[in-house]
Amino acid sequence: MKKIIFVLILNIIFASSSFADAAKMNAGKEIFTGKGMCASCHVLKAADSLGQVGPNLDELKPDIKKVLLSVTNGKGIMPAFGKLGMLNKTEIDIVSFYVASSAGKQ
Ligand code: HEC
Repeated sequence: MKKIIFVLILNIIFASSSFADAAKMNAGKEIFTGKGMCASCHVLKAADSLGQVGPNLDELKPDIKKVLLSVTNGKGIMPAFGKLGMLNKTEIDIVSFYVASSAGKQ
């Protein structure tokens, strides 16, 4: 959580810099493997995750809109993290940026 606030502050200061993007990627990985539990259900090489419940994200290569939608509203047995309040809007933005930017890249 502290890290996310830190990233937010970084984003304000370095609005469009690649430094802010790098910080977002780190925070995104943390959400993916931690609070978001994405790793328990999805394969994503960038996060060393091997979950077999949902689609392999390296193969699916979802764009950011697709990740935002599925994390916010859920899909099939995937929980609606946004609607259920399991992740807040900032966390969803960050983890979606992370997945869209890293899927299929390693
Ligand atoms: C309990 C297991 C589970 C968890 C936790 C989970 N997912 Fe999923 N996810 C699934 C399943 C199953 C599907 C396929 C749903 C379907 O098409 O019926 C899916 C689909 C997706 C899709 C594809 C959506 C589409 O429109 O095709 C994306 C992107 C995705 N998940 C990302 C994430 C992210 C990011 C997280 C963490 C915030 C996450 N998932 C957490 C099981 C999970």
